Amino acid sequence: VRILGMKFVVVMKNASRLCSTKPIVTVNGQFPGPTIYAREFDTVLVKVVNHVNYNVSIHWHGIKQFRTGWADGPAYITQCPIQPGQNYIYNFTISGQRGTLLWHAHILWLRATVHGALVILPKLGVPYPFPKPYKEEIIVLGEWWKSDVEAVIDEAQKSGFAPNVSDAHTINGYTGFVPNCPSQGEFTLNVESTKTYMLRIINAGLNEQFFFVIARHNLTIVEVDACYVKPFKTDTILIAPGQTTTALLTADHFSGSYAMSVSTFMDTPITVDATTATATLRYPRTAANSQTIFTTIPPINATPIANKYRDSLKSLNSGKYPAKVPLTVDHSLVFTVGLGFSLCPTCKATNGIRLVGTVNNVTFVMPTTSLLQAHYFKENGVFTDDFPGHPPHVFNYTGPGPRNLQATSGTRVYRLPFNATVQVVLQDTGIILPEDHPIHLHGFNVFGVGRGMGNFNQDKDPKRFNLVDPVERNTIGVPSGGWVAIRFRADNPGVWFMHCHLEVHTTWGLKMAFLVDNGKCPNECVLPPPKDLPRC
Ligand code: C2O
Repeated sequence: VRILGMKFVVVMKNASRLCSTKPIVTVNGQFPGPTIYAREFDTVLVKVVNHVNYNVSIHWHGIKQFRTGWADGPAYITQCPIQPGQNYIYNFTISGQRGTLLWHAHILWLRATVHGALVILPKLGVPYPFPKPYKEEIIVLGEWWKSDVEAVIDEAQKSGFAPNVSDAHTINGYTGFVPNCPSQGEFTLNVESTKTYMLRIINAGLNEQFFFVIARHNLTIVEVDACYVKPFKTDTILIAPGQTTTALLTADHFSGSYAMSVSTFMDTPITVDATTATATLRYPRTAANSQTIFTTIPPINATPIANKYRDSLKSLNSGKYPAKVPLTVDHSLVFTVGLGFSLCPTCKATNGIRLVGTVNNVTFVMPTTSLLQAHYFKENGVFTDDFPGHPPHVFNYTGPGPRNLQATSGTRVYRLPFNATVQVVLQDTGIILPEDHPIHLHGFNVFGVGRGMGNFNQDKDPKRFNLVDPVERNTIGVPSGGWVAIRFRADNPGVWFMHCHLEVHTTWGLKMAFLVDNGKCPNECVLPPPKDLPRC
């Protein structure tokens, strides 16, 4: 077993973008934060030292954390946060996965600047299931606010209004060219003609799904969320916050500069869009004065492009990498995901009513201690295990809103026996703000066995499910005004968060948790907590 040790010191650092400078929260003073290169089967130890005035926790997004929920990271779900001046060692072993993932802060909106790439290389001597690239490159996409992000969301929570969208997108931390503001750095990828590059693309943004395009170049998608897919060619990538995509790029031009662009996808645009970020792909034989060739940016509401991309994603499902789709279902659930209203007497600006996020009409209330701790130490009164498996009433998801938009609230989990097979139909209610919801499940990957528009039909739709090679991922988009069906096997004991990875929706309460009971101990049970586990 190889042990990989690292230290993440969380510190403030000044950063200049969009013609202004502000202090940001960083890991080791870097933005984006340091890349972790691990190999499958490595044990990873990261000592996180908190030198800022915020509570901190770090999540290893997409790592399955088998029996080690203590290292998963979501604050108040699997651990109490690391308080200022404290530290905590995240200790986990990677197995059964390899590819591109990310790590990020999992408290408040710190993820805006506290994030980085987590690359899992195959075990030594095991090749990729595609030709070896000449070089590998990391491309972290993000968002930049001119103001302090914590102030943005605080303000929104107090007023009841939606928070501002970001001011710009970023590529490896840079905004690239921005009108009316001299560029403060741009990411340039230098390539050699005829060589193939592996791009590990990560959406570390808070609230925006992105289209990623490189002018006059196609990309071959080979892996998403650290799961190999059947390779396919595309000129546009769709990537939601929390998702990762590994693509092969063949430098098939002789010379020139080609723009990469990161623009917003939102099938129903509801807000003013942030500035598209650009970066440059550059060939060596390019004259200094040659013009960059720009991309055609997909329209913000290019749903057909998004759907075509999503339809192309299929598990590789080869002999070495079979898709282990559960073929039977022990728990068949339907969760509505969307937004509702709740009373907010202090929200004067919105007449005493505010938007909330809901799953089955429940707005999740964060506990004041961690759910995993409460479960492990059998503390009563922290949560109830009565999360509804079906919507409380029939919504008409496509028509005008139903009578009852008043959300309920609670800290409720859905309890599963060890090794149960689960199907969840995630139905967008699309009632108030129709928007895609990238839903992320901690502790597992899920298979997206079906997707459709309108209301899910229990009689007809399951007949069309793909149980052979559906895409496997940890974050899956629920289309606006439609549904996706996911399946997973609950073979990981612990408490696992599920939420929309658009941070504003999580803040509003679009989240819940699964509690998976222990199986036969010791091998199927949650490991004891580490000695340095933070206290609330
Ligand atoms: Cu990447 Cu719970 O998040």
